[in-house]
Amino acid sequence: MPESRVPRRRRYLVCEPRHFAVQYAINPWMHPDEPVDVIRALDQWQALVDTYRAHGHTVDTVKPVPGLPDMVFAANAAVVVDGRVFGALFHALERRPESVPYEAWFKTEGYDVYHPESVCEGEGDLVPAGRWILAGTGFRTTREAHSEVQEYFGTPVISLTLVDPYFYHLDTALFVLDDENIAYYPEAFSPGSREVLARLYPDAVLATREDAMAFGLNSVSDGRHVFISPGATRLAEQLAGRGYVPVPVDLSEFYKAGGGIKCCTQEIREIRS
Ligand code: ARG
Repeated sequence: MPESRVPRRRRYLVCEPRHFAVQYAINPWMHPDEPVDVIRALDQWQALVDTYRAHGHTVDTVKPVPGLPDMVFAANAAVVVDGRVFGALFHALERRPESVPYEAWFKTEGYDVYHPESVCEGEGDLVPAGRWILAGTGFRTTREAHSEVQEYFGTPVISLTLVDPYFYHLDTALFVLDDENIAYYPEAFSPGSREVLARLYPDAVLATREDAMAFGLNSVSDGRHVFISPGATRLAEQLAGRGYVPVPVDLSEFYKAGGGIKCCTQEIREIRS
């Protein structure tokens, strides 16, 4: 019998995809000449929000801005740990203006936002994992930003190098299950980074390329429920075998921009008692 997992209530920040589109290509998933169905995107996104709420989580929304088609990917705007907000400096010039409405949201909620000097894309590459922060580099967030994150939070930062352009953000190749464990796709990482992950997480759930390409690693876990792409069938089985409860949510319209469940979700982490 797998052990019974305990969920922890979360606070998520999301952004309605009212102005979602693929207008430029900054990752291999994006093809501006292929149409995006905004109505379908809105329906899928609403289902994600409803699913979070149905599982007891708080969901806040930031108002979408016309002309910022990737703003729906809330994860990229910041990483929040212990109520402290480390903002983003987007790699693509097209995305840089997203920082303004997100910062405004944080300000009205009473948070100050730290402005990084180096390129970094929030929780897309900076993944708080219990006692440390896992940090991706290679395509977007820079190593300099990793040091800035460590200096800012005073938390060890583990730098990991991504090598496959389909997995350009850390959160497309790895997600945190709970304070102890993660799931990831090893081939998305450089050999040395793979070794680091194997040392830190000897018991990790390892995903296949197929599940990774189905956005299976772009999942959100509350410690028990794993909100996961329905295409990642093998991974969902593995998670169920470990006592987690996979909750499939289809965000396929967003894959056209290179994003899935986790990309659309930023977690606001307060100090834990
Ligand atoms: N089109 C966006 C980009 O390439 C997708 C971002 C996905 N977000 C994420 N957290 N992986 O920047």
